Amino acid sequence: MNLAEIKKQVIQELGGIKNTVDLEQLRIKYLGRKGRLTLILRSLKDLPEKEKRKSGEGANELKREIEIMISERKSEILEKELKTKEGKIDVTVPGTKVLRGHLHPFTFISRKIEETFQSMGFKILEGPDIETEQYNFDALNIPKDHPARDAWDTFWLKPGSQRSKAENQKLLLRTHTSPMQVRFMEKNNPPFRIVIPGRCFRYEATDASHSHTFYQLEGLMVDKHISIANFKAVIGEFLRRIFGRETEIRIKPSYFPFVEPGFEVDMRHPSGEWVEIMGAGMVHPNVFKNIGYVPSQWQGFAFGIGIDRIAMLKYKINDIRLLYSSDLKFLNQF
Ligand code: PHE
Repeated sequence: MNLAEIKKQVIQELGGIKNTVDLEQLRIKYLGRKGRLTLILRSLKDLPEKEKRKSGEGANELKREIEIMISERKSEILEKELKTKEGKIDVTVPGTKVLRGHLHPFTFISRKIEETFQSMGFKILEGPDIETEQYNFDALNIPKDHPARDAWDTFWLKPGSQRSKAENQKLLLRTHTSPMQVRFMEKNNPPFRIVIPGRCFRYEATDASHSHTFYQLEGLMVDKHISIANFKAVIGEFLRRIFGRETEIRIKPSYFPFVEPGFEVDMRHPSGEWVEIMGAGMVHPNVFKNIGYVPSQWQGFAFGIGIDRIAMLKYKINDIRLLYSSDLKFLNQF
């Protein structure tokens, strides 16, 4: 059988083929290991050099042609298979879900919190994770050996580092974002309003509501006549913007050495329970004095919001460890 005959035959047979199984049979018949064209190609090696080249070119050319014809026919068949008997696309076939990435719920809520304060005129700043004893404690009116230090279980860094020597200070992983109050006030004069989001660390056992690493958002507003009423208004508005107009909050007395009076703010969870979400208070005169402000001239409020707590309340997450787990089964629910 010569090449022209093979070609004619393939074209003829292709016309009658209606499905991919038969099409594969046809491919095997001509191009398979023992296919007609394959046998011809294989027999070429016994021919003299000159003829080998000539017939070889023709046979290879035909092989390519057949391959193209088969693949075109295959597309036609597949296209037909996609349509129903009436020749329409079946719109009732369920679609495939397109997978799209999204922000981590924690990133999302952090940004929303920052935007909310920004829209109320607060500037956003950041501070160092590694702090000195001076900024984390002393300047905040928490002297050495003061029992209040026990409230912040601390990761101390090994002494002897270059920075520790240069600043002649013991270094630690900041236990709260409050040291940035001091760092900012040292370099700036009132009036101002700032918030400082940041990672904090405490030397504590981990459980469903505690993590050795967590996030706070520090807030500080100082001017001539700032009062508790201002604090209530700002925090109330903030929480209503995050959680909705119906949000109930309560402020009760608490103690932090760097504020006087000190408060704790609770929010009512849909379950009816009150949940603590921040510590706060009016800046203590000693803090103003430590950084060189005249305490009688300035008043301000400060607060430290647990961002993880806000995220957990907002998304009804009952275990803080899930937030930091990177578990896709958890993350894909958002
Ligand atoms: N820094 C305190 C804490 O981490 C919270 C706080 C901030 C309290 C500002 C009062 C004022 O517990």
